[in-house]
Amino acid sequence: MSTTTLPEQLSDTAREFAAREHELLIDGERVAAADGRTFETIDPSSARPITSVALAGPRDVDRAVQAARRALEDSEWATLPAAGRARLINRLADLIEEDAGTFAQLEALDNGKPVKIAKVVDVDGTVRFFRHFAGWCERVFGRVIPVRQPDMLCYTRKEPVGVCGQIIPWNFPMLMASWKLAPALAAGCTVVLKPAEQTPLSALRIGELALEAGIPAGVINVLTGAGETGAALVDHPGVDKIAFTGSTEVGREIGAKTGRALKRVTLELGGKSPNIILPDADLDAAVAGSFQGIYFNTGQACNAGSRLFVHRDQFDKVVAALAARASKSRVGPGLEPNTHLGPLVSQEQHKRVLSYIEAGRAEGAELVTGGGAGAAGDGYFVEPTLFTTGRDDLKIAREEIFGPVLVALPYETLEEVAARANETEYGLAAGVWTRDIGNAHRLASMLKAGSVYINCWGEVDAGAPFGGYKASGLGREHGGEGLEAYLETKTVWTKLA
Ligand code: NAI
Ligand code: MG
Repeated sequence: MSTTTLPEQLSDTAREFAAREHELLIDGERVAAADGRTFETIDPSSARPITSVALAGPRDVDRAVQAARRALEDSEWATLPAAGRARLINRLADLIEEDAGTFAQLEALDNGKPVKIAKVVDVDGTVRFFRHFAGWCERVFGRVIPVRQPDMLCYTRKEPVGVCGQIIPWNFPMLMASWKLAPALAAGCTVVLKPAEQTPLSALRIGELALEAGIPAGVINVLTGAGETGAALVDHPGVDKIAFTGSTEVGREIGAKTGRALKRVTLELGGKSPNIILPDADLDAAVAGSFQGIYFNTGQACNAGSRLFVHRDQFDKVVAALAARASKSRVGPGLEPNTHLGPLVSQEQHKRVLSYIEAGRAEGAELVTGGGAGAAGDGYFVEPTLFTTGRDDLKIAREEIFGPVLVALPYETLEEVAARANETEYGLAAGVWTRDIGNAHRLASMLKAGSVYINCWGEVDAGAPFGGYKASGLGREHGGEGLEAYLETKTVWTKLA
């Protein structure tokens, strides 16, 4: 494949990797799809193809699941002591860290996000997640249970849940891979990872570095492909657990299928998260944080603060301050060092987001700023967009847009705003800006959301549980709760006399 059309900013290493014709990673080998199918991955900053990537079908899924099963039950991985797993995971983290510049460029190329953000958020975050979970390996404890039976030793063992099918989205490609892989490896599981079709490159590179780190063949298999590949993985009877991040629509389908098959499942889905500015807030901090809360990653974040509630008395002032910031934001290609907002990931997302902006206009919301498709070439750009409306029932105030579109809504009382904030099928995140510690924690208990941010937005730590109430998901990722989702509990009874 010709590399001449790839952006000039790419390093030689990133260019060489991006330009390869990518194959699947099964049982430690790079292989073409069994039926030879491929797809193109696109640079969203230019709408040009980057390279071709293998499209895994059901036969490839079967081979990868079998490889993962062998690695789980009959390989050096199966008998490796916990400290050995920790060493390998830490080695993988080191290799990713050494390769940080390449990974940041690959994410900026494949996803479109600003390269500086890719480095600080995605690459550094990935390294932290692997290191955090390496630390858990030697801290997976069973318990001795004080049972009522005399002369009985009753204890629990924690065992890996088994072969894990992990299906991830395109908004934080490598970071989502690390959120899934790190706890699975710490628990001693093996994995078939399915990156999103929009952004396959970084997961393939992580898979290769895992082999270089000494993680045995078959422990991490990477199947690039489309929704059908993910569906075949969910359907495969040899998969014990599915971990999914993506749309609520696909999440519901996966939940139904795994329910019927009684597979373990964790789902991290969509949101329409309310962000509330109380009248006593530090307004400068609230404006800066709320701006980042929605426009970070061009609005393509599951926990984006997409509904902003501002007290009626401060509404105009806050809206004006947000609009002023938006007009100063530079929209551009991810590999440009000065870009604030990259493009949306794909033509499909571009169309979807523009159709929401059109719906907002048609429904009578007031467009304060943005709304345009951006003027930065042929990429999938959208300007940071701000609507105001008094109506919670508008489509743009109810549905997840997953783009740089904020809807600001005025309110009058705390009880009113809490009720309106909760009036949604979602429950991923919520935020409160205030100096009043009592109101902060009253709202924290009233808001039905998996994460509540007080005077901040979107904080993440490998040790802090993350996940959704209601239609935002099932289960929690990160820390001890996240690890538990990759473990089975076995209770052992021993009659001593
Ligand atoms: P999607 O849910 O279709 O895709 C996410 C992942 O699931 C991808 O790897 C995809 O190949 C896979 N997939 C698709 N259909 C599948 C199926 N039937 N069975 C198994 N795996 C399947 O999301 P899409 O279409 O890329 O984006 C649509 C909307 O979803 C976005 O506009 C946004 O609202 C939401 N979304 C939410 C994300 C989050 O972080 N919670 C991430 C990505 C999208
Ligand atoms: Mg889809």
